[in-house]
Amino acid sequence: MLRLDKYLADMGLGTRQEVKRKIRKGMVSVNQETVKSPDCKIQEGVDLVSVEGRSISYAAYEYYMLNKPAGVVSATEDLHDPTVIDLIHTKQRKDLFPVGRLDKDTEGLLLITNDGELAHRLLAPRRHVDKTYFAKIKGRVTEEDVTSFAKGLDIGSQGKEERTMPAILEVLFAGEESDIRLTIQEGKYHQVKRMFKALGKEVIYLKRERMGTLILDSMLKPGEYRRLTEEEVEGLKELEYVRDKNA
Ligand code: URA
Repeated sequence: MLRLDKYLADMGLGTRQEVKRKIRKGMVSVNQETVKSPDCKIQEGVDLVSVEGRSISYAAYEYYMLNKPAGVVSATEDLHDPTVIDLIHTKQRKDLFPVGRLDKDTEGLLLITNDGELAHRLLAPRRHVDKTYFAKIKGRVTEEDVTSFAKGLDIGSQGKEERTMPAILEVLFAGEESDIRLTIQEGKYHQVKRMFKALGKEVIYLKRERMGTLILDSMLKPGEYRRLTEEEVEGLKELEYVRDKNA
């Protein structure tokens, strides 16, 4: 059970004060009867709430898979650039946030949700959730590089060592420009770019393809998104469970 004003504010119909005004003006009905008290108790999924005749269902959690395009920042608000949240036009919840960050110029899989607990657990450094990236690298990526990635690299700066965990580097094409696929278990700041930089190489295109059990839907073009299926949400929660048991 939750208060009518909270129900409507959670669903993005305005601030708590704004929805209270709507309720007092008689714009809101519960089970087809006008209700004028903001503290009226609503049972989610049972009571039928409408605002000016439009029915408003309640979603406690929303989960979206976005194919992040370049040029958009992984934040909820930004003064200069569009954010990944601005791209989710069908959102009901106003408390969505991206689970982790991709750089402004990175494309690919980003999970967007308001499930703080799941996000926290997916991002916890000790859980080592695998992330797989496709990248284009300036220069020839060699078997030596594969070995260096497998051993772990020092990506520290200013004489301070910062070692990465072993990572799986697969060379898809080696030439003046190389195509690679890389799986890492951490999410350090600019990690993929810094790993290649440690070997004197530069990432010229980067796209995330997978995070844990979640795989980017190949039907989604950059900028497009869809809701996660129940199986996908369960897969991520299950992953948590397995990690927990082994922790
Ligand atoms: N590593 C990077 O360098 N950038 C990203 O956006 C993600 C991983």
